[in-house]
Amino acid sequence: MLNILFIGDISGKVGRKAVAKILPGLKKKIKPDLVIANAENIAHGTGISENTLKEMMDAGVDWFTAGDHAFVREKYRDTYNDNNFPIIRPANFSKDAPGQGHIVIKVGKEKILLINLIGRVFMKMDYDCPFKKFDEIIDGLDKKNLSAIIVDIHAEATAEKVALGHYVNERASAVLGTHTHIMTADHKITEEGMAYITDAGMVGFADGCIGVDKENIIKTFLTQIKHKHILPEKGKAIFNAVLLTINPKTRKATDIKPIIKFVAIK
Ligand SMILES: [Fe+2]
Repeated sequence: MLNILFIGDISGKVGRKAVAKILPGLKKKIKPDLVIANAENIAHGTGISENTLKEMMDAGVDWFTAGDHAFVREKYRDTYNDNNFPIIRPANFSKDAPGQGHIVIKVGKEKILLINLIGRVFMKMDYDCPFKKFDEIIDGLDKKNLSAIIVDIHAEATAEKVALGHYVNERASAVLGTHTHIMTADHKITEEGMAYITDAGMVGFADGCIGVDKENIIKTFLTQIKHKHILPEKGKAIFNAVLLTINPKTRKATDIKPIIKFVAIK
């Protein structure tokens, strides 16, 4: 059986420190074949940098997915084309965007297809259709050698993620939502053998608003004037992930276990 650990959005320094504190011990305990994390908030809460990706690779993350903040840091746009950095970005971005939206990862003799998609409801850009993009990727691949198909759907609206889960149910091994930073309580294995969760949550500052200090967020809501997002650099962190068990012969999931931990970051 394949064990795959999928970590929710890693948010800023508190998130990275929490991953570095928790992941090595967790890996010793559960011995995952592959560790994937969403990295779109890894550099101070928005976007990526090469140093922060390296930090998380050193902590034990094997592959990264991204989302709407993938390209906010201009300096690191080409990082998505650099083979030293195991990161993909949503497949339904423009075809002219750097990087790629899916990858076949070799783990021993197994081949795991990782697909990153982005939703369109309540999102700011005019992305291509994530549903049709999934069809396009799957139809264009020789599936018989694949051991698992993992989808990160980075989206705001729960209904869009749920609908995508249904749409790919008989074809994917797992559909895992990201972006909203709050782990949902709907993890399940469908009758057709697909692992699903609407949002895998985040790793970041626990006592704020989705990883950001709460004061300015409340001010923004009170005044309808955008206040600066401040990311705390210490405090209580939450660590959210899901552990998947997949039968590589059938590509069907047999288990999805949510993992919720807290750790103090000084
Ligand atoms: Fe996002």
